[in-house]
Amino acid sequence: MEADSDIKTTPRGFQCTLCNVNLPNLPSLDQHVKGRKHQTLSTVRATRKSQEQRSVFVSGIKPDISQADVAEYFQQFGAVSDIIMDKDRGVYAIVQFNETDSIQAALSCVEHQMKGLKLRVKPREKKDFKLIPKKNNSQNLQQALDRLKPQLCQLVSVDAQMQYVVERFQLGENEKKARGLLVQLLQEVFVEFFPDSQIQPFGSSVNTFGIHSCDLDLFLDLENTKVFQSRAKSTTEQAGEGMSDDGRSEDSILSDIDLSTASPAEVLDLVAAILRRCVPSVHKVQVVSSARLPVVKFHHRELNLQGDITINNKLAVRNTRFLQLCSGMEDRLRPLAYTIRYWAKQKQLAGNPSGAGPLLNNYALTLLIIFFLQNCEPPVLPTVDQLKDMACEEEECVIEGWNCTFPSQPIAVPPSRNTQDLCTLLFGFFSFYAKFDFASSVISARKGRALPITDFLSKNKEEEVMQEEKHAKTQPPSPKLGPLNLLDPFDLSHNVAGNLNERAQRSFQRECQEADKYCRSLQYQRKSTKGKSWGLVRLFTPHGEVPQAKTEQPTISIPFKSASLPEVLRNQLHMAGEGFRLLWFQKVCVAVEGVFQRVLRCHFTRSPDAAFGEDSVVDAAMELETTSASLNTSINDSCDSVESQNAASPLGTAALGAKRRLSSGSDASVSPQGKKPRLAKRGKPELPHWICVQKHTVWAGRRKVKRELIKDTDLRPEGSCMELESRVTVHIIEKEPELKEALEFKVQPQMVGGTESTKVVLKLEPTSDKTGVFHDFFHFLEAFLPKMVETLLEKDVASA
Ligand code: UTP
Repeated sequence: MEADSDIKTTPRGFQCTLCNVNLPNLPSLDQHVKGRKHQTLSTVRATRKSQEQRSVFVSGIKPDISQADVAEYFQQFGAVSDIIMDKDRGVYAIVQFNETDSIQAALSCVEHQMKGLKLRVKPREKKDFKLIPKKNNSQNLQQALDRLKPQLCQLVSVDAQMQYVVERFQLGENEKKARGLLVQLLQEVFVEFFPDSQIQPFGSSVNTFGIHSCDLDLFLDLENTKVFQSRAKSTTEQAGEGMSDDGRSEDSILSDIDLSTASPAEVLDLVAAILRRCVPSVHKVQVVSSARLPVVKFHHRELNLQGDITINNKLAVRNTRFLQLCSGMEDRLRPLAYTIRYWAKQKQLAGNPSGAGPLLNNYALTLLIIFFLQNCEPPVLPTVDQLKDMACEEEECVIEGWNCTFPSQPIAVPPSRNTQDLCTLLFGFFSFYAKFDFASSVISARKGRALPITDFLSKNKEEEVMQEEKHAKTQPPSPKLGPLNLLDPFDLSHNVAGNLNERAQRSFQRECQEADKYCRSLQYQRKSTKGKSWGLVRLFTPHGEVPQAKTEQPTISIPFKSASLPEVLRNQLHMAGEGFRLLWFQKVCVAVEGVFQRVLRCHFTRSPDAAFGEDSVVDAAMELETTSASLNTSINDSCDSVESQNAASPLGTAALGAKRRLSSGSDASVSPQGKKPRLAKRGKPELPHWICVQKHTVWAGRRKVKRELIKDTDLRPEGSCMELESRVTVHIIEKEPELKEALEFKVQPQMVGGTESTKVVLKLEPTSDKTGVFHDFFHFLEAFLPKMVETLLEKDVASA
């Protein structure tokens, strides 16, 4: 099989030579081979190969020869499917036939004479298909910044630099005009085929945040066409075939499709056909039906413009109006948005290549800025709910059941009392998100505050169905939760950042932390007298992934991932309300014990001097003394009851009965089961912990053992399958000799959240490591433990 020849075994696992990636084990190899990248490249390679086998290389052409001339000449040897001309000089071409037989016909012809030219025809060179590595993006970004730097450095303040960024990147008047003319042309064409239809631009072209190369988003509104069609249908039925009542012929594309029943894909196919055939300079037309909102993509040659046409997208037109309104009522928004968008691009946090991907999109980024401005003291922007109340009756607007009411004119909104300058607001944006608890919050620009995630963890399906039937959206259906939850201000069931993966969310927060740190320095705030980079320049400097800060003590983080929790647990957390962190923490602790004891067969005991059953929460002051700065958190004293959860956690019963609750809006740090640490000998509290003893190198050679076990048994090759992993451990213990001296280490779990993303941090510390294996075990645990804990939580084994 072709796929097999792409895979090589290496000492560290496998290598896929097609995609040029290394895979550590069989499950990841399996996943990779089934994945999009590998599948796409395999398809592209197969297509290229087939094209190669059906094409010839032709030289001796002159620049004035057209593609059509070449096609016409070669038709005599067989049907021609494509001609690729040498773009710059027009001296050679690749002629692709429909059938391989045509090649022989073309090659056996002794002399090729075309328009007085003597052509040379050769078979095509067979080239190995290779993945050309992408250009180094960081270098490109650095070059772009180098061009911007001299101007930025000579300005007098960060505010002036931010204004300059707007001027440099915003859409020019001529560009806007050209876009407007294209929209007009499209309108004229579409109305011929879809009477009364309307094409409306939305997004960056018109939302006041557009940059030179931004795409042209269009909404084709077919509502009136539907009305037209049904009216025409009934008129035709009454009067027989012929004309509709307003005289427009029925003999159009519309007679082929019934808009009231056609699927979006069918309509978009039609839109694509119209674009291809009737709009000059439009090419590369493609229907993407798999997108959340199916779309027709096209490119306009002369304007060098990428366009997207959607149908069923009224909300986007409305939220574009909302962004326009925000710009209109607050002058500081545009400089902030342009600067933050440029920063995010330089740090590779936003702007998904080819539209889809795990990064923030510009709309999401703009909403994050708006949300921050709503949370300034005093607020720079009002909440969307407040805007609704400022609108008059005529401005009321409901789209697809969502309330989209806001004033049409900025003048209707009282100006903000906030007088902070741009430099301070930019710094504020970074500080705000540097310490934002993304894991436990849902960002709502509608309400202007972070909603607790527990409100979204349990959804009553019946209620949702009932509401859908009634077309009333008093309780919106739950959005897709992820590492960053950002509610659309109008469609409250849509998480605008739902595409983000954890890595992208972490990068965003880490970059905010870096920027926050930089903004505190004089280099940010003051122009360099020595001509050095300052202000925005250093903020815009691109770099790859920020390396994780080195902590003094080895720690393993287990992040709170609401989206991957089992429904039972989600419901329990929902019930726990603000006490959800404590409950989740206890579940994680049980799972950690499970992994160490049952999967890795460690001797795992609770510390003798830490009473796990004690019913109190760790005291913030003492806790701060004993924990490292990175885990520096405090506890909210106003803890209420989470008694209802007692039964769920065998270890946590006492703590949960302690009538304490952790506030979601504040810092929160607890030890297992929320206990109060006992005072250790030196007078410092000894936080509850586990003592782990391991006598075997259960981390070594696991991949190989697993491969063999999978081959020999019918165990499924799931990377984190508990049964399989336990058997791997047992196998190693049986086959490998014991360590000369057992490894012993301390594991101290802590709950972090409130001013940081909610997570459990496990601090590991060797207490006896005579054979020096602690670090190997730790590196293995770093990846293995969070994954296994997640599996245990998913299966809800932890609460069993
Ligand atoms: P973009 O994220 O492409 O933003 O969404 P943009 O401002 O146009 O930026 P670029 O330059 O094209 O990247 C385009 C529009 O799509 C709608 C919004 O109206 C947004 O302005 N949109 C996007 C949504 O309604 N929901 C989404 O989740 C994303």
